[in-house]
Order: sequence, then C-alpha cells, then structure tokens
Amino acid sequence: MSTPNPWTVVQAADYERHMGPDGLDQLAPLSQLFQQAYLAAQPDRLLVVGCGTGNGLEHVDPAVTQRVVGVDVNLQYLGIARQRFFQLGPRLELFCSEAAAWRAAPGSFDLIHAALVFEYLYPEVLVRKIAEWLAGGGACSVVLQLPGGQGPEAPSKALRIIEKAMKLVPPDELMRLFETYGIPLRRQETIPLRHGRSFWAGTFGRDPAQK
Ligand SMILES: C[S@@+](CC[C@H](N)C(=O)[O-])C[C@H]1O[C@@H](n2cnc3c(N)ncnc32)[C@H](O)[C@@H]1O
Repeated sequence: MSTPNPWTVVQAADYERHMGPDGLDQLAPLSQLFQQAYLAAQPDRLLVVGCGTGNGLEHVDPAVTQRVVGVDVNLQYLGIARQRFFQLGPRLELFCSEAAAWRAAPGSFDLIHAALVFEYLYPEVLVRKIAEWLAGGGACSVVLQLPGGQGPEAPSKALRIIEKAMKLVPPDELMRLFETYGIPLRRQETIPLRHGRSFWAGTFGRDPAQK
C-alpha cells in the first residue's frame, strides 16, 4: 500500500495562517498570479490543480468561464472552497484526488493553473497529464518556488514534515518537460516575496492547430 499524501492531514487553518500575512505572506501574490493568468487566457473551461481552499477563484468571472474544476488531495480544503465560492454554483466542480490519478477527457481545458504543486509530486507525471487535458490553443500557468529565503516556522508538525520533504523544481527542468510534450514556454517572470523568498511564474501554450 502506498503512503498517504501528508497534505491530507494539514488543517486549513494552519495552512492559511502559515501562508497568510502573519506567516510567509504568499496567499496574496499567488492570488495575483492566478488573476494575471486568468485575465490573459479568458478561459471557457478552467482547471486548477492543487486548488487548496480556492485561493484566487475570486477572480473567476461566471460570464466568461462556464466550467471551473479544482483538484486537491485535501477534502477539508475543498469543503471550504465550496462554501467560499458557492456563488459559482454548478460551474464549480471539486474533486478530491491525487493529481496524477485524476482523469478527464482529452483536451477538456483552455486554462490549467498549477501553483506550488509540482514540488509535491513527480513533475513528469503531472506534465504528461496536463498535456492530455489541455485543449488546442490552451495555456498552462505554473508557479514554482525558487531556492533561498527564510520565514516563520510552520505552525504544525505535518506542515514542517511537508516543507522538509518538498523538492524544488528548477524552471529549466519544467520547460524541457513541457517542450517534450509540444507545449513551449510563452512567458516567464520572477516574483520577489517577503522573507527573501521568490517565485518563478511561467505560462506554457499549445498551438491552436494541435489537438
Ligand atoms: C502550497 S499549496 C498551493 C495552493 C494553491 N495552489 C494556491 O495557489 O494558493 C499546495 C496544494 O496542493 C495540494 N496537493 C499537494 N500534493 C498534491 C497532489 N499530489 N495531488 C493533488 N493535490 C496536491 C495540497 O493539498 C495543497 O492544497
């Protein structure tokens, strides 16, 4: 039997305290990066991998997006996301699953957003899935944590274990993987954060002619 994903036992209150303004202060920059990707893509169908409690979904415009799908291993986070974004109604579909095990019809999404999730799984496996799920002309926006910086200690043992086990993914490695699946990098930026930390944000795009 495989070991359960440690994220399944991280309480939402601990996670949000750690990522909020009194902790690492990364929730606001992550929401802003989602907004940027969302506004650029104006997707009809959106998939958020590792959606957590729904950070950023406040930017979804129901007049633009018909389908919003979130996938996460933590059921408590999904319950909170459902409550917070009840106004999205049946447009919002939430699935409690390992990203690598989740299934969707090929070419189902125009925008796939994966922020701070590649660090917790095998990057190649997720890129392969994204390549399957992404529609022709679609975009995938990714946020990676870069090395360096410090910050307050995580408030729970589970989070501290996760932080130790996390594997940073070099942006170059991710670019090579997406390139292998015919989804080249379109734009990238580095975002400085509090506590000397930083994110890399990249957008990969598939040609409209590709399936
Ligand atoms: C650091 S949080 C990022 C939250 C969110 N993407 C944001 O922008 O605020 C990582 C999230 O990925 C989820 N996660 C971790 N490993 C996962 C996996 N293998 N499959 C699906 N979700 C996963 C965690 O439960 C958590 O909600």
